[in-house]
Amino acid sequence: MGSNVFRFPVQLVFGEGCLEELKTFVSGFGKHALLVTGSGPTRSLPAVEAVLATLQSEGISCTRFHGVEADPSVETVEAGAEMARENGCDFVIGLGGGSPMDAAKAIAARLTNPGPITEWAGVGNLRKRARPIICIPTTAGTGSEATSIAVITDRKRKQKMSVVSQHIYPTLSLVDPTLAARMPPQLTAATAMDALTHAVESYVSRRSWAPTQGLSYRAVQLIAANLEKACADGDDMEARRNLSMASMIAGVAFTNAGLGLCHAMAHALGSFCGVAHGVANAVLLPSVMRFNLPSRPALFRELAQAMGEDVSGMPAESAGAKSVKAVEELLSRLPLPRSLSELGIKANSLEVLASEAFLNTRLRSSNPRETVLEDVVGVFRSALG
Ligand SMILES: [Fe+2]
Repeated sequence: MGSNVFRFPVQLVFGEGCLEELKTFVSGFGKHALLVTGSGPTRSLPAVEAVLATLQSEGISCTRFHGVEADPSVETVEAGAEMARENGCDFVIGLGGGSPMDAAKAIAARLTNPGPITEWAGVGNLRKRARPIICIPTTAGTGSEATSIAVITDRKRKQKMSVVSQHIYPTLSLVDPTLAARMPPQLTAATAMDALTHAVESYVSRRSWAPTQGLSYRAVQLIAANLEKACADGDDMEARRNLSMASMIAGVAFTNAGLGLCHAMAHALGSFCGVAHGVANAVLLPSVMRFNLPSRPALFRELAQAMGEDVSGMPAESAGAKSVKAVEELLSRLPLPRSLSELGIKANSLEVLASEAFLNTRLRSSNPRETVLEDVVGVFRSALG
């Protein structure tokens, strides 16, 4: 029997208004910050102004890099690192959704590690600790504030690379649920479905164990109980708080237990078809769960319970199937597409998508069921609708 390791070096601060506490933590980080935000509306969020004011009051100068697109590219990371070098930045702050936070991690890593960034893909390929990183999420789904992972896109090869290294854990993350309260219902649903996928995949992962399962299970409970409320009433702060909590703790779980087939397939859909990550996971998750169910029926049974299903007296596999049904029913009530066809994906592209997904190491390291290429094609087909 091998041993298990639970690693978590991030200082997490959580709560409404906790962004104000940046001033109590930031003084040890250095004298010059690089603030990384998205290229869209996030570049002018009130939170950006609040961070700038705090830095100024603490005597820390700040260079702004607001060129991060959805699914940040290798070129974007290089441009951000160049700007940080030119301005002598000591640390990097990523503010926004998963893309700016992942870009911030990779920029901080590029300041201490040689390129090319394309050679960082996979686990443990960074030699040196990144410059200190602060993450401030403004969505509730990615969990990047709690993980050792940055997803960077190699546009030349049409490939989403997961850079996984203990050297890119954030030093500090401030998770203020009020920042995610600005999300419209569709973005709320898509990001929360990403978090639900993190929770489900880490729960049934080959690498899951009690410390990660406790976090994954709680995240599933919180999302099942709060997602519709947050979509129906964006001002429901209790629902918002619970989704931010779920996203964060699912991040702690999956950075330790890994993800699986759904993320492998979602990354292929993102790389080749530009489908937003949360939407891709939402469309694929029921089909992937149905495929994986025979390998871990008892764990899927527990997932059904976490989603509020009554499975008393039922055999494990049929009880586990209720978790798939529960996810499908939840999706039917959300403002999201429900099939690959609705996303414009054609049957003749499934083989190429499956071949790309099949290369993902998650299929071998953490997905619970042994998977051959034909299986991946089959799961894509069942999600076609
Ligand atoms: Fe994800």
